[in-house]
Amino acid sequence: MTVDHPDVILAQSARVPVNGEIVPPGDKSISHRALILATLAEGDSRITGLLSARDVDATAQACRQLGATIEQNGRECLVTGLGLDGLSGSDEPLDMGNSGTAMRLLAGVLAAQSFDSTLTGDESLQKRPMSRIAVPLREMGAKIVTMDNGCAPITIRGGRKLRGISYKSPVASAQVKSCVLLAGLYASGSTSVIEPSVSRDHTERMLRAFGANEISEASVSGGARLSAVDLEVPADISSAAFYMAAACLVPDSQLLISNTGLNPTRAGLVSALQKMGCDIRITGKRTYGEEPVGDIEVHWNESIHAIELGARDVPAIIDELPILMVVASMAKGVTRIRGAQELRFKESDRIAVMASGLAACGIRVQEHADGIDIEGQPGQKGKGVNSTPDNHSEPVIVDGAGDHRCAMSFCVLAQALGRPVQVHGSAHIDTSFPSFIEDFSSLGATLRRQSETVNV
Ligand code: S3P
Repeated sequence: MTVDHPDVILAQSARVPVNGEIVPPGDKSISHRALILATLAEGDSRITGLLSARDVDATAQACRQLGATIEQNGRECLVTGLGLDGLSGSDEPLDMGNSGTAMRLLAGVLAAQSFDSTLTGDESLQKRPMSRIAVPLREMGAKIVTMDNGCAPITIRGGRKLRGISYKSPVASAQVKSCVLLAGLYASGSTSVIEPSVSRDHTERMLRAFGANEISEASVSGGARLSAVDLEVPADISSAAFYMAAACLVPDSQLLISNTGLNPTRAGLVSALQKMGCDIRITGKRTYGEEPVGDIEVHWNESIHAIELGARDVPAIIDELPILMVVASMAKGVTRIRGAQELRFKESDRIAVMASGLAACGIRVQEHADGIDIEGQPGQKGKGVNSTPDNHSEPVIVDGAGDHRCAMSFCVLAQALGRPVQVHGSAHIDTSFPSFIEDFSSLGATLRRQSETVNV
């Protein structure tokens, strides 16, 4: 009997353009924050369009363990908030699965509670640095114990009085910033975070929506109360990124990606692709509460060229760098990405994983400590469409290394490569985009779970 392999995707050259209109799933970063702030607010918050995926489920589960009532009804999620001081401790550790955002943001909240908590996660999350949040939280007066290597599981002791700090973060990280600001809700005085360059500001915007005493950007004062609100979550630009790239690479594509979050601290991919010569237009600009939203039109065009990105560009495109590397591999010239060392601390070492997958596909790359050079092969672009794709030859095997964004990036690469690609390590796609294969296929992409024969 044949069954689908849970961890391997077979992706082939697209035979038709990527055409149509699509709404990507809800924004992951905003969904985590909506659940956490609604839990801390007084009253019932209605969240529409919350992402339904494993990472956000981990946050919802943790909020329930802390006492919140969360009910999902179709596209609507109703959260009965507990107020800042209404949380209760959990006997069981809070399991954040694969999600760094869930762990780091909740740590900020839990540092200020009267009870002890333990936060844990899967193998990948247990390798990610947690000292970056433990250091500022300790400066605020919290007691946090990490493993000797600074990673999870982490234990947070309750009953500590926190004081506000002005924290100069060595990294531009929205998870660190948000952790400190959430702890700051409970601290005496004001708490602010200064970053080397500005990271995504969803927490600051949402704190405003929930009525926190925010003094200015990346700064809160303690002692405020949060009040429940109704929120609409925009579609995730990080998921839209895969559609954008596919439509830029597969000849004659025309795609409309609707209702997508366009927060300027997140939308670096749009301007990067435009600089490469891709035809991308933003229409229907509007807001969902505090968040800018719009529709993204992508029209394929023949000639795209390399760009250079440096440290200042990185925060607004951090999660989209793997898919940008894929577009760069089909663009004329050498794309150079620098100042992106943070990529090595994501769900995988994204510089190493992308470099090795692209090299396996015949793309020339040069890895650097803080980035990568990619020599584009424009001749490859869209080989499958309007020609006879070599879909039956032996697939190139690449390893997504259990990293959702790398695995999806390789699936998109295959659409334009002219050879099938077998993407291993792809099971974690459901942490952010569970309907990726179905939704992408509905637009004309060629990908499916690899089937395998099993003996019964
Ligand atoms: C996120 C912040 C970023 C990003 C991650 C989500 C968030 O991480 O890479 O996928 O929701 O705050 P860092 O804060 O570590 O840069």
